[in-house]
Amino acid sequence: MCGIVGAAARQDVTSALLEGLKRLEYRGYDSAGIAVLNDHGLQRLRCNGKVAELVQETESTGLSGQVGIAHTRWATHGAPSDRNAHPHVAGMDGRIAVVHNGIIENHAALRKQQQDRGIAHDSDTDSEILACQIAGHLSAQNGLLDAVRAAVDEVEGSFAFGVIDREDPERIIGARRGSPLVVGHGDSGYYLASDPLALAEVSSQYCLLQNGDIVMISEGEAVVWNGSETVVREWREFQGTEVQSGLGDYEHHMQKEIFEQPDAVAQTLEGRIETGRVDDGILGPDAGTVLDATRAVQIAACGTSYHAALVARHWLERHAGIHCQVEIASEFRYRQHAQDPGTLFIAISQSGETADTLAALEMANQDPNYHATLAICNVAHSSMVQESDLTLLTHAGPEIGVASTKAFVTQLTALMLVVILLGRRRTLAPEAESDLVAQLANLPTRIGRVLELDAGIAALSKQFANRHHALFLGRGSHYPIAMEGALKLKEISYIHAEAYAAGELKHGPLALVDEDMPVVAVAPNNRLLEKLKSNLEEVRARGGRLYVFADRRSGFQSDDLMTVFELDAPENAVAPILFTVPLQLLAYHCAKIKETDIDQPRNLAKSVTVE
Ligand code: M6R
Repeated sequence: MCGIVGAAARQDVTSALLEGLKRLEYRGYDSAGIAVLNDHGLQRLRCNGKVAELVQETESTGLSGQVGIAHTRWATHGAPSDRNAHPHVAGMDGRIAVVHNGIIENHAALRKQQQDRGIAHDSDTDSEILACQIAGHLSAQNGLLDAVRAAVDEVEGSFAFGVIDREDPERIIGARRGSPLVVGHGDSGYYLASDPLALAEVSSQYCLLQNGDIVMISEGEAVVWNGSETVVREWREFQGTEVQSGLGDYEHHMQKEIFEQPDAVAQTLEGRIETGRVDDGILGPDAGTVLDATRAVQIAACGTSYHAALVARHWLERHAGIHCQVEIASEFRYRQHAQDPGTLFIAISQSGETADTLAALEMANQDPNYHATLAICNVAHSSMVQESDLTLLTHAGPEIGVASTKAFVTQLTALMLVVILLGRRRTLAPEAESDLVAQLANLPTRIGRVLELDAGIAALSKQFANRHHALFLGRGSHYPIAMEGALKLKEISYIHAEAYAAGELKHGPLALVDEDMPVVAVAPNNRLLEKLKSNLEEVRARGGRLYVFADRRSGFQSDDLMTVFELDAPENAVAPILFTVPLQLLAYHCAKIKETDIDQPRNLAKSVTVE
């Protein structure tokens, strides 16, 4: 997955392209490049590294032009390097340049055909194959638009791309299939990008292209075709949330996003709960019939969103009395299913673009046993929102840090709303519903109090940051929270961390425990507390060093082998949300001590739009 930007304007577009790339770095950041059309023809700069390096190089060369394309890459085909960075050029003397997001699945066969025609390739990428395929259709009769039309019929896989042509210097042609592409419109011209966020500075409006669309933009217009017909896509005004992406007083986006969690949860709840009840219409006007007929729930998601699903399974079975299965989307999509009729399929995703989750959702849409699909998602214009029958937006605001934080707690908040809607139709009594709603309403304040532990956790991290491994333990609905804590730690601090259901420890992983293996435990004051205490004693008896995040009523005391951090998490149902926060802070402070790239950890990208 990569980020692409294009601009055709009445002024130099390099700063708009580079600003757009900076905003798209969440999609990948191992190399970057830009190509513009100007009096010298087609000029290109590429560098192995982040957009900041490309900015420096662009400034030092004084590159400028009124039409251009740019790219930030997350390597799939070909290692990160200058030669694999986009834009890729093709055609006579490098006539065209292409930026591409997605995967050309038949690249090997096309490469062979191109080689047989005498074409020499400069990179290891599938994207250069796409560029050569387009260039191969240019002729005296065929301009760029015709060449793109012919090429998209020949390539298999997913793409969003932008292409410029030295011989047609006022236009950019873009196309999408599978990967997102938007068109922006501002005072100075028209723009293309993988995400509206990239265009918020230069555009007042944007429209989302649909699969199969081909677009031509110039300084004065944008024309969209689907097949041979021109089509009109709806223009939307930019909202405030698409514009705000600054750091304010924070050092990192992740830190900012952790501290935004009280507000983010409040936004998720806004307009959705009232006088002790969840509004029945929050999933849309037709949702009532779907919920009435729901007999079971299947959730598919990836990474952090999968952890949210695991918590929701506990909630759905306990509070709504409804059977729930949860599966990692990349497994779900390639498995034969024996699903009972009347199952509601839920896709959970921050971005709404994760390829595996999207594919799982598309499968569920085709299977009549799933009587409806619901997307719980943070991005209103995302593919998952467009593909699902029902939607519940999490309203967390843009999450820029690759490590998901506020998206997770708002997913959990949104999931609890769904649990209540389903529960009301089954086993959840009105008093129990008001209790859960009160717990949700208190969340912003309670999360705010947990955030006050920040300084203490920063101090604790000094003992932790030099470790190479860590175990995270939890039980019940807090086991997924231990999983999430371990994921956060490994993702940004590169400390190897694994989570176990605490009762499972003695079945193998206990062998790892010694004075060099810190063990982090999540200890809410619930019916599993005594069981958890016994598990922790097993660790202590083997000399293991314990770090326990405990509700202040849990009765833990710090001693030589155990450091206890007390939280105020009296309300059992939403306690997993509260216990998430200190684990986020632990990961953040360890990474800060280790001076890793917190917002853009190595090898990762925010939005995983490839398998
Ligand atoms: O956008 P999604 O929620 O679908 O993304 C799924 C995962 O890629 C994501 O949660 C990932 O695990 C996070 N970087 C973890 O912090």
